[in-house]
Amino acid sequence: MKRRTFIKNTTLSGTGIALGAAALGCTENKNTTTVNKDASLPLVIATWNVPNATEAAWHVLNKQGSSLDAIEQGCRVEEADVDNQSVGKGGRPDRDGKVTLDACIMDTAGNYGAVVCVQNIKHPISVARKVMEETPHVLMAGKGAEQFAIESGFKPENLLTEASKQQWEEWKKTSKYEPIINIENHDTIGMLAIDTNGNIAGGCTTSGLAYKMAGRVGDSPIIGSGLFIDNEIGGATATGMGEEVLKTVGSFLIVELMRQGKSPQQACEEGIRRIVAKGNYDNFQVAYIAMNKAGATGYYSIHPGFSATINKNGENMNHISNSHT
Ligand code: GLY
Repeated sequence: MKRRTFIKNTTLSGTGIALGAAALGCTENKNTTTVNKDASLPLVIATWNVPNATEAAWHVLNKQGSSLDAIEQGCRVEEADVDNQSVGKGGRPDRDGKVTLDACIMDTAGNYGAVVCVQNIKHPISVARKVMEETPHVLMAGKGAEQFAIESGFKPENLLTEASKQQWEEWKKTSKYEPIINIENHDTIGMLAIDTNGNIAGGCTTSGLAYKMAGRVGDSPIIGSGLFIDNEIGGATATGMGEEVLKTVGSFLIVELMRQGKSPQQACEEGIRRIVAKGNYDNFQVAYIAMNKAGATGYYSIHPGFSATINKNGENMNHISNSHT
């Protein structure tokens, strides 16, 4: 189906849901719906400045690959990058020196898979996909998740790099095991992709809050908080202080706001507003990105310093986000 036809069907009749044309990045007259020229498909958006990850995802999409494959391949790039100390191998450890990883993935049919607190496995996004596709479950934790990964062919390896170990040892000298919120960097990678068929998938992968208490899990692997996809509407994903995203079920909220007619940008701003409305947000960062069925995107954060990377037509653009403060 041609993209233009697809958008028209989706917005006006295909889903049976009354979405505002403006919210979908479309203009409308009596007889036609026209896609804005910046809403071309396919495209991928990710939290932070991660051009290698979005490029890897784009290559999948550009070969008519699925958004799900694009998400997995894109996230794997950051998980393998030891210089990214918030994701995968090289991630900062918990306060006991253990690197524990969280990840989740959602496909276009609304299926979901996730792993929490998994050690020694570099690619939790791929384990999450296997949980989704090859088990009757959606969420696996700790040793069981690691055992499942190894039985599925993943090779266990030490994820604590010398750089992260040294920083952790420095941190221990001053922290007294009382990490102050958002002093530590935790740049979770959330990624949303829409393929040439207009189908949306998403993923989220992180080593979580640096020097967290052992066993702490943030928003990233939790459906509706760190990630939510509704392929009739769009998707959203989060980065930053997971506790605050969890308390507001941020990604589900943003998708539901888009369902009610808000644009991805408006929905992200409202998601952030729900957090700042509670007050006491000086010491942590949260940011959201979102995408709708027309490929329109949004991104917004509490504080400056957040950016999103979009790859469209094979070109990476890093977009500095507006913020509440
Ligand atoms: N957003 C990642 C975390 O809080 O663990």
